[in-house]
Amino acid sequence: MIARTNHESGAADRTVTPPDGRAMADQPRWRQDFPIDAAQDDYVSRRELTKFVVLTSAAFVVGQWWIVLKSLWRTAQPDTAVRIAAVDDLPVGGARTFFYPESSSPRLLVRIGSKSFVAYDQQCTHLLCPVVPDVPSGRLHCPCHNGWFDLASGQVLAGPPQRALPRVHVEVRADGVYATGVDEAAT
Ligand code: FES
Repeated sequence: MIARTNHESGAADRTVTPPDGRAMADQPRWRQDFPIDAAQDDYVSRRELTKFVVLTSAAFVVGQWWIVLKSLWRTAQPDTAVRIAAVDDLPVGGARTFFYPESSSPRLLVRIGSKSFVAYDQQCTHLLCPVVPDVPSGRLHCPCHNGWFDLASGQVLAGPPQRALPRVHVEVRADGVYATGVDEAAT
């Protein structure tokens, strides 16, 4: 005799055949609690797998669309460049602090060539001590625990810091040096 599970709305797919042929209501408690025969187990698994694959695919598609929309939104943003210095404010090798955006932690602008500037968050990524540029050696130094960063990239060279310094993108324009964005990947 074929009995149907009584707690599944899609019960048509989940038929079981108790070995003694009695109705499900007459079966022992364990049988009622676990009414799916081993023969149907793989079918149930396929259904669950299909559901999993569909949901995962849907989540992937939504994620991709989110990335595309975020990118479009950023592109549509107005120019957020902020003038942070005149070119001649700093000699080659000189540095100054600024805030970008206004509410940020202190940033450090360093002139590394006649027309080359780099800027980073001034706070060390170890325990937030202010870093100091050492232009002749091409590094930034954190004196608190002797951490060192590459001046050209902000990457860690030595010491306890584990993360690069967040980078502020700068552009030299006709009327000065502008901060144009922050490398969010490093923040
Ligand atoms: S705070 Fe910079 S190395 Fe520790």
